[in-house]
Amino acid sequence: MKMIIRGGRVLDPVSKRDEIADLYIQNGLVALPFEADSSTQIIDAAGRLVAPGFIDMHVHLREPGFEAKETIATGTAAAVRGGFTGVACMPNTNPVADNAAIIEFIKNKALEAGRCGVYPVGAITRGSQGKEMAELAGMRESGAVAFSDDGQPVKDAWMMRLAMQYCKMLGAVIISHCEEKSLVAGGVMHEGYYSTILGLKGIPAAAEEIMVSRDIILAAETGCPVHIAHISTAGSVALVREAKKRGISVTAEVTPHHFSLTDGAVADYSTNAKVNPPLRGEADLQAVLAGLADGTIDVIATDHAPHTYDEKNVEFDLAPFGMVGLETAVGLVWSELVHKGILTPLQAVAKLSFNPASILGLNRGMLTEGAAADITIIDPDLEETVDPAKFAGKGRNTPFTGRKLKGMPVMTIVAGEIKYQRSQKSGVRSRESEVRSQNEGTV
Ligand code: DOR
Ligand code: ZN
Repeated sequence: MKMIIRGGRVLDPVSKRDEIADLYIQNGLVALPFEADSSTQIIDAAGRLVAPGFIDMHVHLREPGFEAKETIATGTAAAVRGGFTGVACMPNTNPVADNAAIIEFIKNKALEAGRCGVYPVGAITRGSQGKEMAELAGMRESGAVAFSDDGQPVKDAWMMRLAMQYCKMLGAVIISHCEEKSLVAGGVMHEGYYSTILGLKGIPAAAEEIMVSRDIILAAETGCPVHIAHISTAGSVALVREAKKRGISVTAEVTPHHFSLTDGAVADYSTNAKVNPPLRGEADLQAVLAGLADGTIDVIATDHAPHTYDEKNVEFDLAPFGMVGLETAVGLVWSELVHKGILTPLQAVAKLSFNPASILGLNRGMLTEGAAADITIIDPDLEETVDPAKFAGKGRNTPFTGRKLKGMPVMTIVAGEIKYQRSQKSGVRSRESEVRSQNEGTV
């Protein structure tokens, strides 16, 4: 019931607090300082970062329907191992989460799993087919935090406009998967140098940018907040930057793979690097980094997309798009952004906690007194080599196998309960104070 996290660097993006301090937790909430008694759990966080629980606002949990890829139980196990205390799950399940009953099902399964917060995203259109509007109001009432046809674009501008008018009324954000299908036309990777030499059909940057522009125009017209999912091109970053300057209610997320890899990762025809939107060129990657640094890109979200070994173990053209992300995200954020000076720890924490929470209207992502005690503790110096065999999730489809990451989540606390604690054996540091965290595993 009572816990004190001692001596960590407390990072609270809302209050801009960044200082060494003790954090007190009581009854699942952040509390005012109290005296420890024999029942108080003491966590030594010296040398660690103590942040509001991370929320991944873009994951595919695959249940119902694709349980061979992932389930709500395994996906949330991956989440807490990756330092996430909450995930928003996309509706491209089977059946598609396009009605209140499925939203309820997901919430019940998440409660049963008992690991972390699960915030369902409802489909915009029935079956995400783009033809008829789904039951947005009913889903909203059942707890859908946002609406998206992710995996597919809403092809028809009239339909997207209508959805925005509804969502404006419902106070819900639209998460837009931006893809102009007539330009994708069967493409399987970024259209550029590598697609040419590999002989693979390319997806041009314009396929994304046309839809980003359309949805910005519709957001301006309807007043509905629009969140651009997995932004990947320099042109899209520029469009969002410009729209924000004009006061349009648009936000954007980028995945760890889009800020740390280019289309060069596909050069060996590795299907684990086949994602949608595709890994782009070096100039796009640089633009994404600039967008993160200047605040154009609000959120880091994984697009965790597990697939089975057999599904990915086929010719590049035939493999499904997607890679897992939950268990490598924090390590990539620290290795590629924080340690390289692109983001401060406080900025990184904001993009992983408060920003996604506020876009989704969740009362999360802060460490002020009375806030839910969802906490992520990071060891910024802990080095770990990515080994998919250790993943808690079912998917092994990552192109980061063997990559050394520096800065790993070491403890995940949800509503005041430790849900995951990382073994330090693989780390370079071994200090007396770390003996507390022994058994790696999901609690
Ligand atoms: O790479 C992707 N995988 N992109 C998407 O938009 C969908 C996702 C999936 O569901 O596998
Ligand atoms: Zn998508």
